[in-house]
Amino acid sequence: MTAGAAHLFDVPSGGISLAGGVPDLSPIEMRGLSEQVGRQIRLGGPTILQYSTMETPSDLVEAIEDLAGRESMHPLASNLVPTSGSQLGLVAVCRALVADGEYIATEELTYPGALSAFAWCGARVAPVPMDEEGLVPEALVETVTRVRASGGRLDVLYTVPTFHNPTGRTQGTGRRQRLLEACEALDVHVIEDNPYGMLSFTGRELPALKSMSPAGVTYLGTFSKVFVPGLRCGWIDPAAQYHERIRGAVETATLSPSPIAQAIIAGHHRRCGWDRAIARFREIYAGKAMTLSEALVASGLDRDRWSWREPDGGFYLWLTDATGVDASGLAEAARRAGIALVPGARFGGTGAARAGLRLSFSGASESELHVAADRLCAVISGAGTVQEGAA
Ligand SMILES: Cc1ncc(COP(=O)(O)O)c(C=O)c1O
Repeated sequence: MTAGAAHLFDVPSGGISLAGGVPDLSPIEMRGLSEQVGRQIRLGGPTILQYSTMETPSDLVEAIEDLAGRESMHPLASNLVPTSGSQLGLVAVCRALVADGEYIATEELTYPGALSAFAWCGARVAPVPMDEEGLVPEALVETVTRVRASGGRLDVLYTVPTFHNPTGRTQGTGRRQRLLEACEALDVHVIEDNPYGMLSFTGRELPALKSMSPAGVTYLGTFSKVFVPGLRCGWIDPAAQYHERIRGAVETATLSPSPIAQAIIAGHHRRCGWDRAIARFREIYAGKAMTLSEALVASGLDRDRWSWREPDGGFYLWLTDATGVDASGLAEAARRAGIALVPGARFGGTGAARAGLRLSFSGASESELHVAADRLCAVISGAGTVQEGAA
């Protein structure tokens, strides 16, 4: 959660939250994990609780390689920069690559944590129009040309190409190719943020942008959505020419990564691998996405006015109002009716952003998703009893 966002995640007691990008941790076997934590402390002794270095331990490199290989990436161990999650990665990369007052291009709807990281670093955001396949390369060319023509400096693009937050959209392989060609022609460096890439409901695994252009892309990876977010562990695979700058920014912000968190993740990977958990996560989120979508239909949401695409991966269902009305009031009414969700305005300043609502299905149970859909439809149709503290 980022500064200023806290109230979005508030839900009256007894209410249901579809607000945060919160993983369902039921596939994680807690007893095994707790034994693992004890074991790491027993074996690692004080070393594992000390400050550490910015070198990524070799067993953690294996855990990262096992994920990266699935999206055709082959990171070099010496190039990896350990982070305490991609949120820190965003701050560090922006600090390292974008000077105060310069622009960073983003999808016109984008992750609010990225927007606050960029604002905090003094960067200005240049939103780029999207279509059903995500960011439109031709629109990026127009945006960059316009900003540069007006005297602005824009050399960096931030994108979430796979199961985008908040829309769930994914850039196909052809779109990725055209985007990278456009960036190369414009001399724009790409920051690829990919927390959800493993969570495909169809099993389709696309090549990461990083795999297609190692020198043109700096990649942010995290264990938050494929393992647990509470250990706060991720990595950056920077383009080699930016390695020193980015590593320096992370080191300044954190001194060193947490060796105990890294050891728990590496130990878990050694014992269990990723296959089973990823398969289980995919199954759970695919089921929840379908439940929410079907529950919205069943509760009678006006489909002439409200539209959404069933996501094929990730955590989010993006609901848009065809009349283009700002949905912030609805989100507030839903919160009072006991349903927390995030109004589109949090994802950007364009009309397309404001007319949407992001429903996160990942953290709620199947039965909560049914109740949430019913209450939300009641609020939207104006028939709901909007009452503070509704159960
Ligand atoms: C697109 C995106 N990037 C980064 C993050 C932050 O991830 P982490 O937990 O690794 O800091 C999130 C969290 O929801 C996200 O959706």
